[in-house]
Amino acid sequence: SLKGIRSAFLDFIEDPFFSTEELNSVRYTPDGLLIVQNGHFKELGEYEQLKDKYTGVPITTYSDCLIMPGFIDTHIHFPQTEMIAAYGEQLLEWLHKYTFPVEGKFKDKDYAQKIASFFLDELIKNGTTTALVFAAVFPQSVDAFFEEASRRNMRMISGKVMMDRHAPDFLRDTAESSYEDSKKLIQKWHKNGRLLYAVTPRFAATSTNEQLEIARKLLEEFPDVYLHTHLSENVKEVELIAQLFPESKGYLDVYDRAGLVKEKSIFAHGVQLRDDEFRRLSETKSAIAFCPTSNLFLGSGLFKLFQAKSVENPVKVGLGTDVGGGTSFSMLQTTNEAYKIMQLQGEKLSSFKALFLATLGGAKALCLEDKIGNFDVGKEADFIVLDLQATPLMALRNSQTPPAKTKAEIAEKAFAMMILGDDRTIQATYIAGELAYKKKN
Ligand code: GUN
Ligand code: FE
Repeated sequence: SLKGIRSAFLDFIEDPFFSTEELNSVRYTPDGLLIVQNGHFKELGEYEQLKDKYTGVPITTYSDCLIMPGFIDTHIHFPQTEMIAAYGEQLLEWLHKYTFPVEGKFKDKDYAQKIASFFLDELIKNGTTTALVFAAVFPQSVDAFFEEASRRNMRMISGKVMMDRHAPDFLRDTAESSYEDSKKLIQKWHKNGRLLYAVTPRFAATSTNEQLEIARKLLEEFPDVYLHTHLSENVKEVELIAQLFPESKGYLDVYDRAGLVKEKSIFAHGVQLRDDEFRRLSETKSAIAFCPTSNLFLGSGLFKLFQAKSVENPVKVGLGTDVGGGTSFSMLQTTNEAYKIMQLQGEKLSSFKALFLATLGGAKALCLEDKIGNFDVGKEADFIVLDLQATPLMALRNSQTPPAKTKAEIAEKAFAMMILGDDRTIQATYIAGELAYKKKN
């Protein structure tokens, strides 16, 4: 079952935030041949050098395109798909006014299945092949999500939201029921095909200490599942957490005391983190999902990306769309907004740094770099075909420079792609070596 793809290829082999020479962090093959076998990468090299080795292998050619590893969205909520673009509120009011009522609808398994299906198709047409996903509090919402992800053979991580206080009755579980439900879901779905489970307390405001202890107990019983929650997003939220947990030194410390800050813990946002909290995240090898469109839309603030990526105390960082607090499923739109957030802080986010976060950086944040994130031999063949001339404006912009032969030249074109690009840029998406989506022209 060998197949070949001929095009230009770009991926990352190291972290450009820490490379002495940023160009050394990427591999770029202007006329390459990618060989896929049984859903995994078998070889990538120059077309002219490889073509004789694979005579007889069917080859699909994508001319004037760029192929990259599938995007990795490290924080998103599938039940919030329909409430994207909710007007006028910041985090705490937004949750009560818009989010909680919508999440109540996911008690209905058929409804959850319908939205999960729409959501996954939307991810695929935006070139996202892996995501870390909040479901709702209802276990059947998790079943619906994993059933649909399994049907598409996607590498996905999700979990049942745990929340036993400060939420409407119809959305609350209890410490005990969240334990039983989460445990059953872990046994059913964790490592079922490409699927993985994340223990998912919503955030410290909606879990009692007793429930946070239950989350720890689950992680102790199932040491290789993830922990996924929200952290230090909004100023009023941080004040609320200080009131609710007066014994804690700060927001991160609430999770730390509960034993939830460790490798394979992914914290969304981190906009309001203090220096000592960044150091603690670094020390514990836990990760932050940086969610630019959400942080701007909800008025949460400007994430200190370059502090997180400091040489002294590096924190793992991935990019998240955080739909429906975020405003786009597109990881290209997300890198676009990330660039602007760094501009507002006097920093430059290069195309390679941004696209690293959207691919290999996300894989590292999710501790999946042995499976996905670049074209290394043996990794799972999730990849996307990007059209740098997807719109007339992009075509005009792209035509200002000749076809990219060098890394510096593709860096320039990739920058215009990340600023101007969206779902229209995604020409095709492959999942485990199979064509899962092709754009209609
Ligand atoms: N904090 C707690 N819940 C949520 C949520 O659903 N979205 C965002 N952006 N932040 C949260
Ligand atoms: Fe979120």
